[in-house]
Order: sequence, then C-alpha cells, then structure tokens
Amino acid sequence: MRTFIHNDVQVLATQAADAIQEVLSSVEHPVLGLATGSSPLAIYQELITRHKNGLSFGAASAFTLDEYVGLPKGHPETYAQVIRNEFTAHVDIDDARVFSPDAFGTDVEGAPARYEDAIVGAGGIDIQILGIGSNGHIEFNEPGAARDSLTRIEELALRTRQDNARFFDSIEDVPTHAITQGLGTIARARQLVLIATGEGKADAVAALARGEFDPQWPATAVAQHPNLLVLLDEAAASRISG
Ligand code: GLP
Repeated sequence: MRTFIHNDVQVLATQAADAIQEVLSSVEHPVLGLATGSSPLAIYQELITRHKNGLSFGAASAFTLDEYVGLPKGHPETYAQVIRNEFTAHVDIDDARVFSPDAFGTDVEGAPARYEDAIVGAGGIDIQILGIGSNGHIEFNEPGAARDSLTRIEELALRTRQDNARFFDSIEDVPTHAITQGLGTIARARQLVLIATGEGKADAVAALARGEFDPQWPATAVAQHPNLLVLLDEAAASRISG
C-alpha cells in the first residue's frame, strides 16, 4: 500500500486524477469504479476540470459500488443519481455505460448476482475509487463482512445510518438496506485509490495501515492489494502507528 499525505484535498484529488488519467490513456476500453460519499467529490471535480481541458471518457464504462434499497428510482439520494449529478453528467461518458446495482426493479433479490456478472462481463474494474466509513466500512460492507464476499444486499449498521442521516430529513428516512459490491468484488479491481480526510476516519485508516485483515474493520480486506494508493490528510493519518 502506498500512502500519500497532504492537507490540501485538491492535491489529493490531483494524485487520484493522475492515476485515473493514466488508465484512460493506456487502456482501450477503460472500466472505472466510482464511489459515493463526500470524500471522492474533489476527485470528480478535478476530473471534470480535466475533461473541460480535453480529457475524454468516451471509451470508458463505469460501475458504481452500491445503492440504497427502498428509495424510489430517481430519488436525489439514490447513488445512481448522486454519481450522475456529481460526475458523469459533466463528462462525455456514455450514460448507457454507467452501471449501478438495480435496487428498483421487480427482482431486487436477483440484482446482486446480475451486477457481479456485469462487472465480470466488462472485463473487471481497471481502477476503483474508494471512500471509507468512520466504522471502517467500504461501500456498505459493514463490520463482520466476509473477506471474499460478493455483491449482495446488506443491512446497514446504525453508525452508518447516523453518518448518512445528514443527507436526509431524519435518520428514520435513511434506508436500512443497500446493495453493495462485496469485499471480494472490490479487491478484484486491478487498482484501488482510497481517499479519506478528517479525524473521524483516523481509527479506520489506522486499522487499514496495520495491514492485516480484521473483520471489525472491513476496509482491511484490501490492505494487501498489490496496487493500492491511500490518499490522506494529516487528521485521517494521525493514528497510524509506526
Ligand atoms: C457511505 C458510502 C461509502 C462512503 C461512506 C463515507 O456509507 N456508502 O461508500 O465511503 O459513506 O462517506 P464520506 O466520504 O461522505 O465520509
């Protein structure tokens, strides 16, 4: 795992965007893995700026990592909509090649397996952007998730619902379940870029930096990934020991 620490989030975003641009220029049909949450927003802003300066996403496909179950299609807090509003609507990626788990159709139970097949069918993810939850979850793989887990419906931890209540009128409005890529799915991406800022992430980041898989800190499932870049500010890095 390579760690890069800087207090200017713009500098962190530049590092991530450089890695993504490298994939766009070296892979014929690049497959991007997109993450929601506030942490990746600076990366999307940087990519949008680069697109205005000529960077094309025309050959790319993209897969999002997760989706709430229970919100109506088109709800502004569905992750499909968030990714569209924050990123894909502002670049030249083909809308039809931006995929997210189908939590809205008639067969929600079958959606995880279909999504897993779609990722494999696209040739796998070339570069995956990741955030991290304060309890160490990645996407919605909550503490206790199996290291080799695949895309599935997961019940959200109370802390995750509390963290995400800021996007809703009240915690009662935060869905209780989500479809999430599994830890095993995420670990199969050829390259991972994880971004975390703020003291609230410091314990989760410290667990990741210990490098051993610990089911209480799901993000540790990717600690041994051969191509993992971790972008941190000093507050998020403050409890890394050694
Ligand atoms: C949500 C998302 C995760 C994200 C996490 C942290 O739970 N499902 O993908 O990593 O929030 O979000 P933030 O970056 O806003 O702290």
